[in-house]
Amino acid sequence: MKGIAVMGSTGSIGTQTLDIVTSHPDQFRVISLSAGRNFEMLVAQIERFRPLRVAFADPTRLDDLRRLFPNVDISADERSLTDCVIQPEVDIVVMGIVGFAALAPTLQAIRAGKTIALANKEALVVAGSLLRREISQSSAKVIPVDSEHNALFQLLEGRDRSHVSKLVLTASGGPLLRQTQLPLEDVTPAIAIKHPNWKMGPKISVDSATLMNKGLELIEAHFLFDTPENDIEVWVHPQSIVHGAIWLKDNSCLAQLSRPDMRLSIGFALKYPERLEAVIPRLSLRDMSQLEFLEPDVKRFPCLELARQALRLGPSHLIALNAANEVAVQRFLEGHILFPDIPGTIAKTLDRHTATRVEQIEDVFTIDRESRELAMRSASR
Ligand SMILES: NC(=O)c1ccc[n+]([C@@H]2O[C@H](COP(=O)([O-])OP(=O)(O)OC[C@H]3O[C@@H](n4cnc5c(N)ncnc54)[C@H](OP(=O)(O)O)[C@@H]3O)[C@@H](O)[C@H]2O)c1
Repeated sequence: MKGIAVMGSTGSIGTQTLDIVTSHPDQFRVISLSAGRNFEMLVAQIERFRPLRVAFADPTRLDDLRRLFPNVDISADERSLTDCVIQPEVDIVVMGIVGFAALAPTLQAIRAGKTIALANKEALVVAGSLLRREISQSSAKVIPVDSEHNALFQLLEGRDRSHVSKLVLTASGGPLLRQTQLPLEDVTPAIAIKHPNWKMGPKISVDSATLMNKGLELIEAHFLFDTPENDIEVWVHPQSIVHGAIWLKDNSCLAQLSRPDMRLSIGFALKYPERLEAVIPRLSLRDMSQLEFLEPDVKRFPCLELARQALRLGPSHLIALNAANEVAVQRFLEGHILFPDIPGTIAKTLDRHTATRVEQIEDVFTIDRESRELAMRSASR
């Protein structure tokens, strides 16, 4: 029986993790839950899973929650996320919190030597080198949940890395791939979050439409697999059946295929190094009958190139890139800026950013704060 902390339990990754727990009650037990603002769903989850500890980001509803569950340790202060991950009963931390907010609890989970099923990508983007250093000094293990990185993890496991020449991340192309006639100024939040293959939270859905998701993933792959930026290819693959591939030095190419269903990689991370039985349905031949692979359109969607640029420029530029993207996506979702202003805001923020040394985690928080202020000034109409 493994004890699990489900961080971001009310989100897409969190609810799919709880689906797996529900269907494997003899193998997993929920120790902690954490949510942002979704009070009703969190109440239902506490009733259903009876965790020992809960973190809730909305302090105004804390008393209501405590009244409903007097025997559960519930908090909303700065330490609440850390407390959820470091409990001795927790074996695996599923990090499904979106954005920069996942950095501090991810770091604490590493320091506590937990196994981390890492779905969040922003923490590695802003602090990849520092987190890698922390991992090397602890007994923590990181198993990537992001489907592309999970595919690469499976492909690289046990392989002599000197045989591998390049990594490949696939990208669905998002909701705008086939809408080439639609002016990008006319892309509304409703259009941008309507992903053709995956059901995900609003931020990653917009990232997917701008191709920034692939930019963040490229940076994530760089840190997870210690691979230079120019050895990571991106293929647009609208069917989302092939999730990742590797080129070997003799030009053999190996790929991982499965239905687009995050429960596969979540289940993989929860059970690693064993495997769960049939977590998702098998692919049929029909599913695989028309697989397409295309070059990404980096002119129409410049975010992927901005991410490559930031990675070449260094760690403080990565923090600026992520901060500007989080600010711009939020401003777009709230209707303050247009879709093309997202790459515009990021480009301006990167232009105005001066490279700074990133030696400790406090530096990441400082540069993030400053970059958000810079981005906010650019993301106004
Ligand atoms: N969804 C996917 O298929 C997928 C695939 C690969 C990678 N990922 C990555 O996984 C992460 C989560 O994605 P998602 O699609 O699951 O997002 P989501 O559906 O928006 O869920 C985000 C979760 O984080 C919580 N949260 C938000 N802000 C918080 C804060 N300041 N403090 C604590 N909790 C907070 C939310 O709580 P409330 O909803 O209660 O406010 C929710 O539980 C992202 O980094 C994403 O890039 C997701």
